[in-house]
Amino acid sequence: MRVLFVCLGNICRSPLAEAYFAKLVRDSDLGWEVDSAGTSSWHVGEPPHSGTVKIGLVHGLVFDGQVSRKISKQDFAEFDALVAMDRSNYEDLIYLHPESEYKIHLLLDYANGNETDVHDPYYDRNFELMYEQVAAGCDGLLEYLRNSQ
Ligand code: 4NP
Repeated sequence: MRVLFVCLGNICRSPLAEAYFAKLVRDSDLGWEVDSAGTSSWHVGEPPHSGTVKIGLVHGLVFDGQVSRKISKQDFAEFDALVAMDRSNYEDLIYLHPESEYKIHLLLDYANGNETDVHDPYYDRNFELMYEQVAAGCDGLLEYLRNSQ
């Protein structure tokens, strides 16, 4: 299984989802591939945001080697699941590659709450809220993907 997490800048939300989901995969010995990308090229080449790294480290996550990149056409062929952090990312992914709609997911569809969008901490620095939502979504997504194999 190859899973790609996608947000706008690939420096806040999707890097956290990548690190969190990679830990779940490691802890479960699943051997799945996990990566992340952005729909924009605004932060290409940059490491994850310092606030994302800080909240991740508190929870035992690692961000080794993570660098922002823009999603490519090839990603739609190579990944089994493309997971959007919010509805805007979701719509962008479907617009970019409508044929892949069946494997494009919205992360918070796999959490129990009523929210649809992972909070973007870029402006208000609420990294804690982002973490709680990413964790809930990733926990549910892991179960869903395990059961769909
Ligand atoms: P991300 O957050 O999509 O979760 O990486 C953002 C990063 C950068 C910007 C917006 C959101 N920006 O406007 O540059």
